[in-house]
Amino acid sequence: MKHLYAAALIGAAVAAPAAAQEIKIGYALAEDSHYGVAAKAFEESLKGSLGDQFTFRHFPSSGLGGEREVVEGIQLGTVEMTIVSTGTLSNFVPQVGVFDVPFLFTSLDHARKVLDGEIGQDMLAKFDDAGLHALAWGEQGFRHITNNRGAIQTPADTEGLKIRTMENPVHIEAFKALGAAPTPMAWPEVIGALQQGAIDGQENPLSVIVSAKLSEVQKYLTLDGHVYSPAVILISPALWGQLDDDQKAAFDQAAADAVTAMRGYVDDVEASGVATLKEQGMEVNELSPEEKAAFRDALAEPYKDYEAQFGKELMDRIQATE
Ligand code: PAF
Repeated sequence: MKHLYAAALIGAAVAAPAAAQEIKIGYALAEDSHYGVAAKAFEESLKGSLGDQFTFRHFPSSGLGGEREVVEGIQLGTVEMTIVSTGTLSNFVPQVGVFDVPFLFTSLDHARKVLDGEIGQDMLAKFDDAGLHALAWGEQGFRHITNNRGAIQTPADTEGLKIRTMENPVHIEAFKALGAAPTPMAWPEVIGALQQGAIDGQENPLSVIVSAKLSEVQKYLTLDGHVYSPAVILISPALWGQLDDDQKAAFDQAAADAVTAMRGYVDDVEASGVATLKEQGMEVNELSPEEKAAFRDALAEPYKDYEAQFGKELMDRIQATE
């Protein structure tokens, strides 16, 4: 009788389903943004392949802090996953800054080919040395300037413009060279700073300008597309290290599905975003190719630094990618 009871207890222990592991995923934008859509696609893909082994807790709209803090959380293992811009990433993996060089990528298609190819994949591998594991490159689109001072048509129009930039040395150097007054600031502070007039403007892709409703605090949008803005899906090495090979394959596939969703969102907002923002009252101006070239020419000095820092050969390879 005693033996039967013990056997029943052991049987119960064996049959009990393993507790699902919770993944906290933090990102800077709302659930209906390109980040939120990608995070959801990731979750659904993983559920399809691994069932209930993992559950997700989403922290949208900087619910876990600014991007730098969240990346530090990934290093420490207190946050399991994030989708981030390259804003602060060159403070962790300096070589990544090459993708932040203005006017390096000519189109979304060009950028996607570079990131999906050897150059982008080699760069992803470098994250492991920084105590991070990168699953895939996503994107935000091309960054444009918004502000409350006036339309920007030439580099001279940026003179003295108090523009919030990401905490990104490559971007800061470029805006200084244009004659603007770049103010690096973590994203959670930006809307308040715009509302209070502490800064005149900021720069972000249409995906962010639309999803973060920047039309409520900004009057002018200049479609200058000065720089492509990649995003990356990061996972904490603490979690990655405990996965078996099948689980790793499922995470890689989920990242690929998230990227498809994110790029789909960006394609849509690139097509419809300007009309939406005009309806919301923004004044939008576009730069001709000649006007864009004037901005690129104004960055001749920073370009010498970028080439010294990242290697002219790598920058040439990126530009030559077809
Ligand atoms: O401007 C930024 O800091 C980033 O583009 C944002 C909005 C946080 C998205 O990653």
